[in-house]
Amino acid sequence: MNKKIRQAKNINADVTVPGDKSISHRAVMFGSIAKGDTRIKGFLKGDDCLSTIDCFRKLGVDIEEYNDEIIVHGRGLHGLKKPEEPLYVGNSGTTIRLISGILSAQNFDTQLNGDASIQKRPMSRIIKPLSKMGACIESTNNCAPLKIHGGSLHGIEYTMPMASAQVKSSILLASLYAQNETTIYEPTASRNHTEIMLNHFGADITSENHTIKSKPVKELYASDITVPGDISSAAYFITAGLIVPYSHIIIRNVGINPTRTGIIDAYLQMGANIEILNEHTEGGELVGDIDVRYSKLKATTIRGDIIPRMIDEIPIFAVAALCAEGTTLVQDATELKVKESNRIVTMINELSKLGAVMTETDDGMVIRGSQELHGATVYSHLDHRVAMSCAIAGLMADGET
Ligand code: S3P
Repeated sequence: MNKKIRQAKNINADVTVPGDKSISHRAVMFGSIAKGDTRIKGFLKGDDCLSTIDCFRKLGVDIEEYNDEIIVHGRGLHGLKKPEEPLYVGNSGTTIRLISGILSAQNFDTQLNGDASIQKRPMSRIIKPLSKMGACIESTNNCAPLKIHGGSLHGIEYTMPMASAQVKSSILLASLYAQNETTIYEPTASRNHTEIMLNHFGADITSENHTIKSKPVKELYASDITVPGDISSAAYFITAGLIVPYSHIIIRNVGINPTRTGIIDAYLQMGANIEILNEHTEGGELVGDIDVRYSKLKATTIRGDIIPRMIDEIPIFAVAALCAEGTTLVQDATELKVKESNRIVTMINELSKLGAVMTETDDGMVIRGSQELHGATVYSHLDHRVAMSCAIAGLMADGET
């Protein structure tokens, strides 16, 4: 599929973005293992979240899909059925890693597979802790396809080698079924939607100083969920508003959970004119409108704790850095190498075609600012965030991208 982008002059827009992907996945998963009906409003009907629905249907959950809501008829913590065929997660890392935590505790075996990209992404990060809890997981070189022999689990104390919400969530889901408490130590905080939503459904999870403790529960109880707009999608509009001269964009009703707002903090550090309006809480998640005006950005360095708080936004952040004055550094970001594509390599390759000067480092990249971009043909590497980032870069390039 080809899309053509032309240089933009000024953008004045008042928009909403589709529902948060992380929260949409979790609402279906947790609703499926809760008692009662979960009505989900604002669900993201993208391929990844539809894969999650498909997997839980194969596990015996009745899920109704309407235009404006999804209804999950939960089967309770112990009500899933052995699927008749392998579960297919498509391109979705969140589906395969989180569902593995649930499947590890079932008294049946399940096979899980996904597309060519999923078959290359590391699964040892979940196989290791789930095996320590008592699951038996077979894989091909620590990648999908996975065969999970579920069974009775025990709680563990686990120090995560990297900040990853997918790994943390997988362990937390397994911990619901364990015989005793589980403690997880995170090197730095990753998104905490699992902790918030599971507690909303009756789990007993506490977090303090990067230490998360979860006690097993007898049941989860269904609760309605309104999914806020996805800040990871809002990031493209935020960036367009900042870099396209004389723009003013308002993005309404976006999830602004502090474990996700690294991109806003990074842009504020660069001198961005961004304001949050109408801040309020929905289902334990912070929500607000993001008001963005064109700004003369200055280069910065991002590293350490902010990286997991903006991990999916680093490709679009690189585009903003091309338009900032000075040289921007991205450090401590090796996790970018194991996303839907190696996002350090793919972003450098594609933005270079537009004339960008960027170099790869061991754990990130160096981005030269104040760049004149010119239209060119770029390739997404079948990675949605690469495609969207290149589209925004195209707004700044003369000619057609
Ligand atoms: C996600 C966590 C992040 C993120 C992914 C969604 C989640 O992955 O990149 O898009 O919903 O938990 P990691 O936990 O592997 O960093």
